[in-house]
Amino acid sequence: MSLKESRIEYKKGTLSDDLKNESPFDLFKDWLELAKKYVALDFNAMSLNTNSSDGFPASRIVLLREFTEEGFIFYTNYESAKGKELEQNPNVSLNFFWRELEKQIRVKGTAVKVSSEVSNVYFSSRPRKSQIGAWVSNQSEVIQSRETLVRKEEELEKVFKGKEVTRPPHWGGYLVIPNSFEFWQGRSGRLHDRLKFSEKDNLWSADRLSP
Ligand SMILES: Cc1cc2nc3c(=O)[nH]c(=O)nc-3n(C[C@H](O)[C@H](O)[C@H](O)COP(=O)(O)O)c2cc1C
Repeated sequence: MSLKESRIEYKKGTLSDDLKNESPFDLFKDWLELAKKYVALDFNAMSLNTNSSDGFPASRIVLLREFTEEGFIFYTNYESAKGKELEQNPNVSLNFFWRELEKQIRVKGTAVKVSSEVSNVYFSSRPRKSQIGAWVSNQSEVIQSRETLVRKEEELEKVFKGKEVTRPPHWGGYLVIPNSFEFWQGRSGRLHDRLKFSEKDNLWSADRLSP
């Protein structure tokens, strides 16, 4: 099938006006539960979009590891490209697309580092191989070859042999504190439902947007 012919009629759901009175946090939790149930793999994958100093937006997938009443937590290397971008400008957007549910959620917000205690707890729950990987990878830096990584991994396996792998100080979590959420539900004839929630002075209000 050609790109021009690929066309799907969305008909799995609707967004009623009543939802405008709900908390966007509760609505996100409900949708995340549905995704957990119906999305086969990586239901917690989200696109994280930062602002780079060359004026181009930068986008990559990260995994949502916690959703709290404050916002969205993901983990990464603080010295990676995204870490440096966040240092310069903490404003981000997130995007979730759940094909199976015909739903998209767009979020805008500000990223702050979580406490070292919170990062430690999550780091200690990771598989040992991933813990060592966090020490091995200077994420986003240019490397000579794959071999460089393999050798460094072997060295670090020796360093940590018989010991608990501590969290590298340059690795940890960010909390994205949202100031807007847009819930999108695919509908037929491209007349989709969109509800946008915005925060002002700690109060949330919602509008319906044209598809
Ligand atoms: C499904 C999936 C999940 C990922 N999860 C993470 C993650 O949780 N944290 C992370 O740092 N990178 C994750 N990555 C890798 C990032 O997309 C990206 O390659 C990496 O963070 C480097 O990005 P940067 O150079 O913009 O900092 C994931 C990639 C995919 C495809």
